Amino acid sequence: MIFFEPESRDRGLLPWDPFKGVVVPRPIGWVSSVNKAGQVNLAPYSFFNGVLSRPRIVSFCSETEKDAAAFAIESGEFAWSMATWALREQMNATSAGLPRGESEFAYAGLATAPCRLIRAPRVADSPAAMECRVTQVLRVRDLEGGETGGVVVYGQVIGMHLDERYLKAGRFDLAAARPIARCGYDEYAVIEQVFTMTRPEGGGNAHGGG
Ligand SMILES: Cc1cc2nc3c(=O)[nH]c(=O)nc-3n(C[C@H](O)[C@H](O)[C@H](O)COP(=O)(O)O)c2cc1C
Repeated sequence: MIFFEPESRDRGLLPWDPFKGVVVPRPIGWVSSVNKAGQVNLAPYSFFNGVLSRPRIVSFCSETEKDAAAFAIESGEFAWSMATWALREQMNATSAGLPRGESEFAYAGLATAPCRLIRAPRVADSPAAMECRVTQVLRVRDLEGGETGGVVVYGQVIGMHLDERYLKAGRFDLAAARPIARCGYDEYAVIEQVFTMTRPEGGGNAHGGG
């Protein structure tokens, strides 16, 4: 076992920062948003997750205030679409640094579908999507209290879209939808197989939480 403080790793042994290589797999927050001028944005964020289930809150972190965060903060809304194996190339294309106002949907050849409760569109071909309203914005600080530039946007889920073709016995069939997740370096994972485990007594709620 080797130990090191992350800022002083042996760059001969570890040329690439292993941090993102061990915080894995990260669900991809494929975030779409619209600013007040009506410009549409879509980009992937792997510092994304659900943080609470009552109410349902998700968050994504932008390492600097990029368009997804800026538009979501400005409009108070964003949509999330599930990135899947079938959409992997398009997802990657939407991370291109396009000039503000140029839609990544068009650039990646993705069709939009309207949301019901918010203005931002979602990815039409994605099997799952969520409509979110911004609840909090956190400017992330480091140990010294200094600003890192990181911005976490929290949003409460106010609507969900599920493609009924992926519903099986009342559950969303993950192995059929094949979501992709971000790992370290240039690596990704794809969920094609799941397994089940029952929680021990007192191990949380009984309806599939956490
Ligand atoms: C799979 C994937 C995950 C990413 N995750 C993040 C992330 O968590 N935070 C971040 O700041 N950028 C992340 N990026 C980079 C942004 O997608 C990229 O900077 C993009 O141009 C931002 O677009 P925007 O300015 O339109 O929001 C990721 C890129 C990819 C391909």
